[in-house]
Amino acid sequence: MIEPQKTRVAVNGYGVIGKRVAAAVMSQSDMTLQGVSDVVTDWRAHMVLQSGFRLFGATAQHVAAMRDAGLDTAGTLDDLLGKSEVVVDCTPKRIAAQNVEAYRRRGIKFVLQGGEKHAATGHSFVAECNYGSTVGRDATRVVSCNTTSIVRTLSALKRAGLLRRARGTLLRRATDPWESHETGIMNTLVPEPEIPSHQGPDAQTVDPELDVVTMAVKVPETLAHLHYWSVQLTRQASKDEVLGAFRTSSRIALINTNDGLPALNSVKELMADRGRPYANLYEVALWADMLRVQGDELFYAYMVDNQAIVIPETIDAIRALAGTVRDGSESVARTNAALGIEPSLIGAGVGEPVHR
Ligand SMILES: NC(=O)c1ccc[n+]([C@@H]2O[C@H](COP(=O)([O-])OP(=O)(O)OC[C@H]3O[C@@H](n4cnc5c(N)ncnc54)[C@H](O)[C@@H]3O)[C@@H](O)[C@H]2O)c1
Repeated sequence: MIEPQKTRVAVNGYGVIGKRVAAAVMSQSDMTLQGVSDVVTDWRAHMVLQSGFRLFGATAQHVAAMRDAGLDTAGTLDDLLGKSEVVVDCTPKRIAAQNVEAYRRRGIKFVLQGGEKHAATGHSFVAECNYGSTVGRDATRVVSCNTTSIVRTLSALKRAGLLRRARGTLLRRATDPWESHETGIMNTLVPEPEIPSHQGPDAQTVDPELDVVTMAVKVPETLAHLHYWSVQLTRQASKDEVLGAFRTSSRIALINTNDGLPALNSVKELMADRGRPYANLYEVALWADMLRVQGDELFYAYMVDNQAIVIPETIDAIRALAGTVRDGSESVARTNAALGIEPSLIGAGVGEPVHR
């Protein structure tokens, strides 16, 4: 039997998202990582090589600087693009938009991340919502961590015919752990100056039918975001019905405070104990025991691991653009299996409805 060809993937920018994407690509049986491009010459570039990946410099100047620093580079970003079918741009906000022209000139398909605007690709992606419209396109944007969680959860309620409108308050981590010596806040809370905050309108770039308003506040910690939601349902519903709707998403994990998971740090510790790379929580971790239904009103809270939640979506976006898998649920299942995403975070019975 002839083995199907693996999709050749490039990662541009090996930071918080890029290194997780590179590791996730390596774990897919239908993809191969052609290399990683960056601009740094410090330990981060050394880690690219130690991980067994080929290192490329963004420009000839970056390649020269890397070689001066004793790094074995394989060429420029342009060389890497020449060897690849899909590039995932994980450079910082607004830099990726400047690379779009080079990608188009090269005729390479590309995935941008949530720091870029919808207009940069004209398409925004969440796997369980709009995989089908992505198949065969030239480019898409995997929406931000917060927006991914919003579309996953509200799409589940919508599929069950339960969603009328949703209003959410987002407690956003101040900065990422690796750069918390440089940025972040201490001893204060900083409300976003505008209501609605941008995440609600951003969710509508994926599904324009969503009636959603968000408000956000920056909080002095680095682990993850925490969302509180108040949803007007289309009708009176039971707690079991709502939990059943959330269970239709393989990327929403129901957790319980009573299982020793009362806070962000305990969920993150569980992911470390599970041996997930970087203690990644790919799922939206939603507290089932806390969730309340009052008539046709629904209230719940969940955790978003901002560094990890977009990784499975990025893998699905690569497959959709490559057109190798046309069915979204098949791609999601493949990605989940490779990344160890299972119905429960800790084992059988967890996430079952809790009646109080
Ligand atoms: N950090 C998060 O929690 C998070 C979550 C979801 C989405 N995103 C989005 O993902 C994207 C990447 O964010 P990040 O947090 O990984 O950033 P980061 O700063 O951690 O990493 C960016 C990497 O790109 C490299 N880089 C900078 N300029 C470059 C260039 N011109 N060419 C090649 N490499 C270059 C940097 O050296 C660094 O290694 C952004 O759009 C961001 O909004 C971030």
